[in-house]
Amino acid sequence: MSLQDAPQPSGTGRLLNIFKDRSVEDHGVGWSSLWDSGESDLWDRGKASPALVDIIEQESDLINPLNQNGSRKKAIVPGCGRGYDVVMLALHGFDAYGLEISETAVKEAEAYALAQIKSPSAYHFRSGEHRQGSRGSATFLKGDFFSSDWAFTEDIGGSTKFDLAYDYTFLCALHPERRKDWANSMARIVKPGGLLICLEFPLYKDPSLPGPPWGLKGVHWDLLSQGGDGVVWGNVGEDGKEEATEHCEKGAFRRILYAKPALSHEAGKGTDMLSVNQRK
Ligand SMILES: C[S@@+](CC[C@H](N)C(=O)[O-])C[C@H]1O[C@@H](n2cnc3c(N)ncnc32)[C@H](O)[C@@H]1O
Repeated sequence: MSLQDAPQPSGTGRLLNIFKDRSVEDHGVGWSSLWDSGESDLWDRGKASPALVDIIEQESDLINPLNQNGSRKKAIVPGCGRGYDVVMLALHGFDAYGLEISETAVKEAEAYALAQIKSPSAYHFRSGEHRQGSRGSATFLKGDFFSSDWAFTEDIGGSTKFDLAYDYTFLCALHPERRKDWANSMARIVKPGGLLICLEFPLYKDPSLPGPPWGLKGVHWDLLSQGGDGVVWGNVGEDGKEEATEHCEKGAFRRILYAKPALSHEAGKGTDMLSVNQRK
């Protein structure tokens, strides 16, 4: 697929312009100002990730919201935006947390969660119907993913680690210089044996072109399995089917599942990949 043919998220040019002259340290302020000026429609998909709904409902042995003693597992979505995936995880039984650098996003997510937990939309469930089973909670935290301050708040039980983390369009929103920090932070917050699920997007975009969104072909594999800095140029074989190499032991995660999801958001349909990475 050529870049011209590729599905572009709406507002891509506007996002590029906003970030092109900002220093990397200033990107968080850039995202917050977009929330404050009501421009979240530049990236907002309006619903939970269909690929995440699918895997949670279909792989219930691998992704179970309950511990053996019946207590709830904790899930987190860094850079959660309006919180669609956080609410979906809560509706499937996790105690789910969303982290956002923007205070406005946190407020919008709290309002969204309040309404949806009471009366969930059909898109939260594969069949479109509410599944049986008890719900967990949805909590939103304001904080910078790269600072550890938020991870020690009482809201999440002090320095608790998470059983599951999910990334969709957070990594691609970050400047490539921050990719290694993203991987280190994920390794810090996910428990040994816990899972980091990534809906990898955009894989059709040349990784050498400017973002956001930044093209991510080969980036997750390099960061999580190979322990690299994630600044690769998509040089990893067709369809992202990278072969394991002797270097893969260096990463903090082991990739245990990699598949093209049957369903995904329009912007990445046919090109998105879903990876499940287990913390070593
Ligand atoms: C492209 S949006 C994706 C939002 C959400 N994942 C979704 O699918 O709608 C990226 C989000 O990351 C947030 N963000 C950017 N930098 C952050 C940081 N350092 N810590 C926490 N959130 C951040 C932004 O405010 C923005 O809401």
